Amino acid sequence: MKRNKVTVVGAGNVGATAAQRIAEAGLADVVLVDIVEGLPQGKGLDLAEAAPVVGHDARVTGTNDYADTAGSDIVVVTSGLARQPGMSRDDLLLKNAGIVRSVVQQAVAHSPSAILVIVTNPLDAMCHVAMEASGFPRERVIGMAGVLDSARFRTFIAMELGVSVEDTHAFVLGGHGDTMVPLPRYSTVAGIPITELMSPERVAALVDRTARGGAEIVALLKSGSAYYAPAAATFEMVDSILRDRKRVLPCAVLLQGEYGVDGLFVGVPVVLGAAGMERIIEIRLSGDEAAAFQTSAAAVQELVETLRR
Ligand code: NAI
Ligand code: 2OP
Repeated sequence: MKRNKVTVVGAGNVGATAAQRIAEAGLADVVLVDIVEGLPQGKGLDLAEAAPVVGHDARVTGTNDYADTAGSDIVVVTSGLARQPGMSRDDLLLKNAGIVRSVVQQAVAHSPSAILVIVTNPLDAMCHVAMEASGFPRERVIGMAGVLDSARFRTFIAMELGVSVEDTHAFVLGGHGDTMVPLPRYSTVAGIPITELMSPERVAALVDRTARGGAEIVALLKSGSAYYAPAAATFEMVDSILRDRKRVLPCAVLLQGEYGVDGLFVGVPVVLGAAGMERIIEIRLSGDEAAAFQTSAAAVQELVETLRR
């Protein structure tokens, strides 16, 4: 059986942690790439040396040369600057756009059939940059944010109600920013909508905490941003694609009329399988939810326009 190969660009906190998860699950051989000399090689070797103890056969290597990434099934892009305290996701826009454009061009030159999983912020705008730089169809350019934001919402629901996170399900749609759209009506504990289980005030508090989830971690860490949950979320997407699991996960994809949006990457529920984004699932939104979704899409549109200026 052919071994899968995943390239992770950016050997920083999110990239190295995602690489560790992918390798330790035995899901694929992993090539870590970074612009800093020695960093991906060092982390790659360290991860490889953990393999005998952990007990997996995935090969992990690090490099500064994209030739080593040739033939990757998936390229995960985490390269860029992380958010610092007081810095908005949008401040990162222009700097990270240049980085994402350059790494995507180099990666796809060696892996023209890969599926791109974009992580770098501001996420939705970086998906636009990656799509333009790769020339790939929309099925093969997918942004990670909704899985993370939904995981945060699920965590807060489980904490609030004293129930297992396993029994919580949540959907957070829209852009990965302050305007993201957590959907309490579609968020459940063992199938029961959370709106039946807590007061509207508590639901609103959890929704607000979810929308500020990234900033909450940044404020605590003081330097750098979240990476354990982002890496776990990235792993879940890679796993669904490589094992053709058809998981239904909220991801940033290019909408072409779905949800009343055309030509923008926004987070919506999709089916992730071997072909990448295989289907967009359109759920019925109430008037308020649809309005919040449009506001979130408008925020993405603003970033994209800034990029094009
Ligand atoms: P980090 O600073 O730990 O790692 C970033 C790495 O990118 C560094 O090792 C750096 O050397 C590398 N890099 C910079 N320019 C490069 C280039 N031209 N080519 C190759 N590598 C390059 O940051 P961290 O915490 O890993 O975050 C990475 C990105 O992911 C940030 O933009 C962050 O905001 C974003 N992020 C997005 C999330 C999401 O939900 N979409 C969640 C968490 C982080
Ligand atoms: C987060 O939500 C920084 O986007 C990143 O943690």
